[in-house]
Amino acid sequence: MLNFTVITIFPQMLSSPLGHSILKKAQENGLIKFDIVDLRNYATDRHRTTDDAPYGGGQGMVMKPEPLIAAIDHARSQAPHSRVILLTPRGRVFDQQTAGRLSQEKNIILICGRYEGVDERVTAFVDEEVSIGDYTLSGGEPAAVVVIDAVARLIPGVLGNENSSVEESFTDGLLEYPQFTRPEEFRGMKVPDVLLSGDHERIKTWRREQSLSLTRERRPDLFAKAAPSGKARAHAGSAKAPVYLALLHHPVYDKNGVIVTTAVTNMDIHDISRAGRTYGVRGFFVATPVKALQRLARKIIEHWEVGYGSRYNTTRKDALALARICDTLDDAIIAIERETGQKPLIVATSARRTANRASFAALQDMLHKETRPFLILFGTGWGLTETILSQADYVLEAIEVRADFNHLSVRSAAAIILDRLLAADRS
Ligand code: 6GU
Repeated sequence: MLNFTVITIFPQMLSSPLGHSILKKAQENGLIKFDIVDLRNYATDRHRTTDDAPYGGGQGMVMKPEPLIAAIDHARSQAPHSRVILLTPRGRVFDQQTAGRLSQEKNIILICGRYEGVDERVTAFVDEEVSIGDYTLSGGEPAAVVVIDAVARLIPGVLGNENSSVEESFTDGLLEYPQFTRPEEFRGMKVPDVLLSGDHERIKTWRREQSLSLTRERRPDLFAKAAPSGKARAHAGSAKAPVYLALLHHPVYDKNGVIVTTAVTNMDIHDISRAGRTYGVRGFFVATPVKALQRLARKIIEHWEVGYGSRYNTTRKDALALARICDTLDDAIIAIERETGQKPLIVATSARRTANRASFAALQDMLHKETRPFLILFGTGWGLTETILSQADYVLEAIEVRADFNHLSVRSAAAIILDRLLAADRS
């Protein structure tokens, strides 16, 4: 039995949403219980005031600390081992993992903050602050309903079928596959043949492929976390820092020194993914601003990841899971920042011989000492532009080559550089 205590100035906002369907049944079956507490009952003045003007001036009102703390104290005294949660847009963003953790609690006290905020001193009395997303609600009440719903349905017995929360979106970190029901054909649109085949193995495979494909396309952030490499939280080789790679198709030079956008190639995506996986790289960004080429790149990846290739060769699938398509270098940087919480140090590579290069040894050393993420940039065509090189934190020294031929393919250069920087032991 999980007991939810909700502290609010609008108790009516909770009663209906909690009184239907799954949540209603769960209460009837004694699996969850709700205490909706009217904060005004803890106000001490005649007008039952719960808010006041902010010190320092400004718009709106602030929730006073005394009634809130009195309500929290009372709720805590009823249920000694309570988890006290303040619902506020500045909290940690609620997700399936948090829902899972909270579903293990016995007592949860939810405090519905209001948009203008609660007195800062209240935070000393709460265990955590939770937001439900990056937008502003007028109060925490709808957020409390969202949290309660997501948590309650994970309690064994709340959903009729014990398994029904196991298969759906987010449980494995992926979006759910498409569903169909009768009729078999609707306005000319047919249900995919495989679902009518009765071949459960094939249906399972198809659904998995659809899940992966949909997640990669719509939610690359979730995909990165769900991919085997993301799960392993691999650190590159012996390095301490998480290492990412990016292959830029723009801006790069052509052989005449003109800035162009190059085409995406199968072999580069392939080989750099495999080298990256081998050396423990966290992610490999394929950056191209051309939408048609992004689609092509996605197709190449999906062939190995979910198509025929994934059954033909499962290790390649593992490697290709590293690859992610993005528009620009900036997108890759933002994705890494979101994933690791830190801005990556940018290391550009170039076969041209210019001044101020970081040596392989120096960079290898940094990778072992730094905990900040590194993003190593590779250019297609005739290489990264001066502008990109000048924006990088470091430009890696060129691979020493014979004077008369300096034309390693970018995928070969990437493999050599990964080995020089990340080989497990180079004593
Ligand atoms: Cl928990 N409260 C409010 N007021 N706004 C929100 C929110 C919570 N989560 C997202 N926006």
